[in-house]
Amino acid sequence: MSHRIRKAVFPVAGLGTRFLPATKAIPKEMLTVVDRPVIQHVVDEARAAGIEHFVFVTGRNKQVIEDHFDRQYELEATLRQRGKTAELAKLEQDTPKAGATSFTRQQEPLGLGHAVWCARDVIGNEPFALLLPDMLHLGPKPCLAEMIEAHDRQGGNLIGVYPVADDETHQYGIVNVGGSREKVARIEAMVEKPPRGTAPSNLAISGRYILQPEIFDLLEKQERGAGGEIQLTDSMLKLAQSQVFHAVRFDGQVYDTGSKLGFLAANVAYAMAREDIAPEFRKQAAAILGL
Ligand code: UTP
Repeated sequence: MSHRIRKAVFPVAGLGTRFLPATKAIPKEMLTVVDRPVIQHVVDEARAAGIEHFVFVTGRNKQVIEDHFDRQYELEATLRQRGKTAELAKLEQDTPKAGATSFTRQQEPLGLGHAVWCARDVIGNEPFALLLPDMLHLGPKPCLAEMIEAHDRQGGNLIGVYPVADDETHQYGIVNVGGSREKVARIEAMVEKPPRGTAPSNLAISGRYILQPEIFDLLEKQERGAGGEIQLTDSMLKLAQSQVFHAVRFDGQVYDTGSKLGFLAANVAYAMAREDIAPEFRKQAAAILGL
């Protein structure tokens, strides 16, 4: 069954332990890449792909994410009073329309698979997009838009992938497309963090998915897997027994902002992509690096 992708899920209930102490009181999704919280970059990507409803799976200490996507009347009034119309317009543009967001609580961080399952009632019986907010995609065309185009053509389940170094495959979910060089290729195998030297390819899952609603029944029964967590990949492997999965190769850069190095690299890359910042930033960065 093909069906338009209207809703996207953003799991934001993780603890962000790799980024302590920054994430003790501030969710990692609210750390800024240049001047926008990480989560705003990912919501922008979803909106650019035509997503109409934004579903956040949150947990304790994440209220600030809800506030970020709400209107701030005092701030708006002050900006208006001071004649800061450009800033006001930008705020309005970044905020989803009333009723276009839903927030549901995971209650316990039992794993990504469990977080996705928590969105089941809000999604209902339709295919949906899933975006991991700590993974930023910078490239010529937004990753999710390419995936939705592929879904419009062929339906089924889709996973965004990108090539990683052969000696790093053990850190990622890896898919095999059997040697196909097509941008959209049928997935033949999927493995979560394969032991060193055993990965079937170097195509890593990038944190963008389009999934059919049957995933929820599988997640409901899913037992804990690696790390004692309910793993999305385990349920996707079960779904792959009855439904087709395609990989959509992203031809840009992917940054894992949940890690310190990925976050720093993302800030440099996004600054260099900004016309208003890049020229001066390049000079300052060169001075720091002694170039
Ligand atoms: P990560 O494993 O990258 O996030 O999960 P984490 O657990 O917050 O990070 P570390 O490893 O402790 O530093 C990928 C995404 O899934 C969400 C996270 O918020 C992140 O966006 N997630 C993960 C949940 O919503 N719930 C969970 O139980 C686990």
